[in-house]
Amino acid sequence: MKILFVSPDPRPERWTQLLESALPEAQWIVWHPEMPCQQADYALVWQPPEILFKKEPQLKAIFNLGAGVDALLKLSKLPKELPIFRLEDAGMSAQMAEYLVHQVAEITRMMPAYRQQQQQKTWRMQAPCRRYEWPIGFLGMGQIGLKAAKALAMMEYPVASWSRTEKQIEGIESFHGQEQLGAFLNRSRILINTLPLTPDTQGCLNQALFDQLPDKSVVINVGRGQHLAEMDLLKALDQGKLSHAVLDVFSEEPLPNSHPFWSHPKITLTPHISAPTLREETVRQISEKLKRLAAGNEVSGKVDRTRGY
Ligand code: GLV
Repeated sequence: MKILFVSPDPRPERWTQLLESALPEAQWIVWHPEMPCQQADYALVWQPPEILFKKEPQLKAIFNLGAGVDALLKLSKLPKELPIFRLEDAGMSAQMAEYLVHQVAEITRMMPAYRQQQQQKTWRMQAPCRRYEWPIGFLGMGQIGLKAAKALAMMEYPVASWSRTEKQIEGIESFHGQEQLGAFLNRSRILINTLPLTPDTQGCLNQALFDQLPDKSVVINVGRGQHLAEMDLLKALDQGKLSHAVLDVFSEEPLPNSHPFWSHPKITLTPHISAPTLREETVRQISEKLKRLAAGNEVSGKVDRTRGY
């Protein structure tokens, strides 16, 4: 079994060492675009260049080294029938829960005010957080956001989710379909985007959506930068419709130095770190799946190309 490792990671040996010990029977090859065809069976990929699929048309399946497959599905040379497996949790949902609980608490527990007070040596209690004043809404409810939604619900925030199809999750109010989107937005003072990026969801965080949120809402984007209409966000923040935005993903990454998001007083910005891919967990999951696949067994996490995730 020949397997390609295709990633912009500058130190691919950190991966191949783990991969070789998890699956020593395979031949692992760190692929680069100048290579002749390797006749590989499988490839592990993160944001691969288009030419991979021209050079290795015989691939039997590919494994995405992340949860979101948008960078892959936009490639025109990606063979239509090639099975794609996305990463399923692999340690990401716990990181996402931690990130989101942290960002929510920053806002609802007035942490910026306390940081300022410390600077001034001021001992003063801000108004306590009344959880009913902070209904949280998850736009998209897949594996990546589930732990976060449950954690926030456990902390007694009113939590709801909106998804394409109905989801029943204990403790979380479920909305689904276009017809329930308005009601979901109307009740969500903290809106958290965890949607996959597809042609249907591109640009969905826009003025028309912000207008349906309660006044002074907070938007947290941990989906993809392309979900967000950037100018609409700036306008909604400047006009006070939104009180704050937390952004972890951007349509151009790294975010250019000149971008207004860097210095906006109502934006908290992190460099796409809410739930990074973890090497050990990823290698464990993908090597198990490769063994199952090679033995002719069913493997979970297959991307539905018609849905786009
Ligand atoms: C990260 O953004 C991922 O898709 O896993």
